[in-house]
Amino acid sequence: MVRIVILRIGHRPERDQRVTTHVGLAARALGAEGMYLAEADNGVVQSITDVVTRWGGTFFCKDNMKWRRCINDWKEGGGTVVHLTMYGLNLPEVIDEIRGKDNVLVIVGAEKVPGEIFGLADYNIAVTSQPHSEISSLAVFLDHLFSGTELAGRYADAKIRIIPSKAGKKTEEV
Ligand SMILES: C[S@@+](CC[C@H](N)C(=O)[O-])C[C@H]1O[C@@H](n2cnc3c(N)ncnc32)[C@H](O)[C@@H]1O
Repeated sequence: MVRIVILRIGHRPERDQRVTTHVGLAARALGAEGMYLAEADNGVVQSITDVVTRWGGTFFCKDNMKWRRCINDWKEGGGTVVHLTMYGLNLPEVIDEIRGKDNVLVIVGAEKVPGEIFGLADYNIAVTSQPHSEISSLAVFLDHLFSGTELAGRYADAKIRIIPSKAGKKTEEV
């Protein structure tokens, strides 16, 4: 199965902590392996690590990753680089091709992405050609990529699990 790692760029610690944390949590819940954060922000790393400790799995989060080096290393290792941007090709046109890859680095921005990213990416992909957000675009991308199979995700080492119920909140501590 295709292996996915996120590269989050343009994070501003003073205002993007919540959104970047949610990019990581959405990535984890929907089947990605980890997230590189281009900027330094231990608060984000800590929040995501806390969730992994309680809810299970092996999702990693590493901050202070220089994005150019991260992209170049990924490509040198034979991986594919996808940039999610409303200016790219619309998702349905390319998703089957991406599904056939082994290792995919998915770049999402915060405010304005450096123009160089468009050239470095193997694929610039739009989740509609309308402006919305890095969380929604990543979630739709992952769901299409994994064709919904990620929705059944369970973690054997979870300390807490939800027992799905029609009404109320049921959990079990393991
Ligand atoms: C709030 S948007 C900022 C977009 C910014 N105005 C720009 O020109 O780059 C933050 C990120 O959400 C993602 N995004 C927003 N709309 C998207 C779309 N329609 N398709 C794919 N990604 C999108 C992109 O990764 C973008 O960098």
